[in-house]
Amino acid sequence: MEEEKKLLPIHHYSKDQHSIIHGDSLSALDDLVLDGSVHLIFADPPYNIGKRFSNFEDHWDSDEAYLAWSTQWLDLCLRKLRPDGSLYVMASTQSMPMIDLFLRTRMTILSRIIWHYDSSGVQAKNYYGSLYEPILHAVKDPKNYTFNADAVAVEAKTGAVRKLIDYRKAQPTPYNQTKVPGNVWFIPRVRYRMDEYEKHPSQKPEALLERVILASSNEGDLILDPFAGTFTTGAVAQKLGRRSISIELQKEFVKIGLRRLGITSELDGEVLVKTPKTYSRKNGKKSKEPVHLEYTTNLFGEEL
Ligand SMILES: C[S@@+](CC[C@H](N)C(=O)[O-])C[C@H]1O[C@@H](n2cnc3c(N)ncnc32)[C@H](O)[C@@H]1O
Repeated sequence: MEEEKKLLPIHHYSKDQHSIIHGDSLSALDDLVLDGSVHLIFADPPYNIGKRFSNFEDHWDSDEAYLAWSTQWLDLCLRKLRPDGSLYVMASTQSMPMIDLFLRTRMTILSRIIWHYDSSGVQAKNYYGSLYEPILHAVKDPKNYTFNADAVAVEAKTGAVRKLIDYRKAQPTPYNQTKVPGNVWFIPRVRYRMDEYEKHPSQKPEALLERVILASSNEGDLILDPFAGTFTTGAVAQKLGRRSISIELQKEFVKIGLRRLGITSELDGEVLVKTPKTYSRKNGKKSKEPVHLEYTTNLFGEEL
C-alpha cells in the first residue's frame, strides 16, 4: 500500500502564497516542502478507526503498523518545521497515547488539549459516549516559539457580577477580565446546515483552526497541513493573512480545496462548485430537514 502511494503522481496547484499538493503526504513532504521552512503544522491524519475517506480505507493491520506510519510522517514534519516552529496533532483517543510517547522524545509538549463538542451522546448505551477528540500542542524549542496570547484571549469568568479588585497588590487593581483559553475547548462540530460545511466525514471547524493559527503564527508565516481533508487549515490561513501548503491524497477532496482557497474554479473540465444543500418537501412545502446527505454522521457515527 505504501509502495503504491509512492508511485502516485503528485500534482501541485498554487496561487497567491497558497499551495495544494495532490498526493501522498510522505512523498510530498519529502520532495516538495523545504526543510526548516514551516512555522506551524496542523496535522489531522486518518485515525485508524476503519472509516472510508473517498477511496481511502482508514485501517492499518495493527497499532504497531499505524504507529510506524505515524512516526514516519511525524519525523518528516519535524524536518520541515523551523527551529522556532509549533506542531498541533490530532488523533483518536486510543492512538494519542502512542503519539504522545513518541513525540515527547522529539519535542516539548506544551499542552494536551481536549476538543470537546456538542453531541447528543445517545448512540452510546452501554458505555460513556465520546464527546471529545485530543490535540497535542508541541514545540521544537520551549524557549523560542510563537504564542500570541492576546490574539486568542477569552473572557475570564469570575462568577461575580461586579468587577473584582485584587487588594493583594500594592495598588489595588481590577482582576484581569481576559485569559488565555484553558486546555478544554468547547467548539461545536461542523453541521450540515453551517455555511462552512463540506462533504467530508471529519471536517474540522474553522473556529478551532482560527484559535490554533492566531496563537501559534504571525501574518506572513507558513502553515502546513499534511492531511488537508476539506482544507480548513488552508482556508483559515488565507483569511488570516498567512501562507499555506496543504497536502491531500484524494482528488475528490482536492477539488474542495481548489475551490475553497480560490485557486481554480475548474479542474479537468469540471466546474468546481459547492453541491447545493437539498431539503425535502412535505405537502409541496419546503421542510427544514435535509433529504440527502453524503455524510449524515461523523467518524464516530454521531449525527451531523
Ligand atoms: C481526518 S481528515 C482531515 C480533515 C481536515 N482537518 C478538515 O478539516 O477537513 C484526514 C485526511 O487525510 C487524507 N489522507 C489519508 N492518507 C493520506 C496520505 N497518505 N497523504 C495525504 N492525505 C492523506 C484523507 O483523505 C482525509 O481527507
